[in-house]
Amino acid sequence: MSNQTVDPASVPYFTLAGGDKIPAIGLGTFGSDHVSPVQVAETVKAAIKMGYRHIDCASVYGNEKEIGEAFKEVFDEGIVSREQLWITSKLWNDMHGKGDVLLSCAQTLKDLGLDYLDLYLVHWPFPNYHPPGCDVESRSKDAKPYIHEKYMETWYQMERLVAAGLVKNIGTSNMTIPKMKLVLRDAKIKPVCNEMELHPNFQQPELFNFIKEQGIQPIGFSPIGSPARPERDRTAEDTVDIEDPAVKNIAEAHNIHPAVVCLKWAYKRGQLPIPFSTKERNLYSNLMAVVEDPLTNSEMKELEGADKGCRLIKGQVFLWEGSNGWEDLWDADGIISGV
Ligand SMILES: NC(=O)c1ccc[n+]([C@@H]2O[C@H](COP(=O)([O-])OP(=O)(O)OC[C@H]3O[C@@H](n4cnc5c(N)ncnc54)[C@H](OP(=O)(O)O)[C@@H]3O)[C@@H](O)[C@H]2O)c1
Repeated sequence: MSNQTVDPASVPYFTLAGGDKIPAIGLGTFGSDHVSPVQVAETVKAAIKMGYRHIDCASVYGNEKEIGEAFKEVFDEGIVSREQLWITSKLWNDMHGKGDVLLSCAQTLKDLGLDYLDLYLVHWPFPNYHPPGCDVESRSKDAKPYIHEKYMETWYQMERLVAAGLVKNIGTSNMTIPKMKLVLRDAKIKPVCNEMELHPNFQQPELFNFIKEQGIQPIGFSPIGSPARPERDRTAEDTVDIEDPAVKNIAEAHNIHPAVVCLKWAYKRGQLPIPFSTKERNLYSNLMAVVEDPLTNSEMKELEGADKGCRLIKGQVFLWEGSNGWEDLWDADGIISGV
């Protein structure tokens, strides 16, 4: 253990619509299949001690109870106060709909040991349940495509959580431009963030630019290209960001790991990366990625050319009967599929 620390005041932030300041890098907490809830919680504690102030949680990661214990320890030990942390969580797909949103948020708050969240996201725009870790080929017979009226029922409950003081901000995740346009048309409280897959080999420029223009902050998940993602989320066509020639060249020039280049690129582009790591050394270089040694404009241009349109988290398990394939989830032709 190196016990390296970073002054949290040196970590930049983004200002959200509404004025709240969100630290410009967060710690992911999806332990995938190989990092246990206790290990993730230990990582959260180590990260907060190091200077991280933003933690990205979700009920479906199955570790909020353990992370809640880590929060209690850092609060009790006086390392940080609740107000100094930015804590996000997400509503899982089987808790969409009128009665369940409040229940789900209440459970997350109980598990995390908090009385409010800084940000609560609708994890996916589909209300489709699948068992954790199930095969990508499995299909739920109850699975449905995006139905806007249903999504808005959920969204209005999200708005009620704000009114009740249980969450300070609400946002979306895994959205597309056509879906987002409808939500922006009908929401009383507009999403302040959209969490989406973003890494040099998958830059989603149209969606990224659209949500920026709407004043919505993009949060980039799998910012390093999720090199340890489960087997079920891999296909033969997937590219590897940390082996990309442009990423590697720039890493050599800065004498840093290619993973850190991905994070520097993310921050300078205007998105907020939420990398996960279990290693103290990597936690430190990831936090420092947004503090010092930014990429140059010509390096940013070079990385713009690294976009291969390679989506890693395709979402196959959310497909409904009769769908044509995972592309249906992402409305690539500008039309919401299946409705
Ligand atoms: N909203 C959504 O639908 C959604 C979907 C997917 C993910 N997420 C969120 O995004 C977070 C991050 O995504 P992710 O966990 O899929 O992938 P990621 O952050 O892109 O990659 C994590 C992997 O990169 C390695 N790594 C991290 N820093 C490194 C460094 N400096 N040098 C070398 N290797 C490094 C880690 O290994 P070591 O442990 O060995 O460092 C780990 O295996 C998740 O934890 C979750 O919170 C959200």
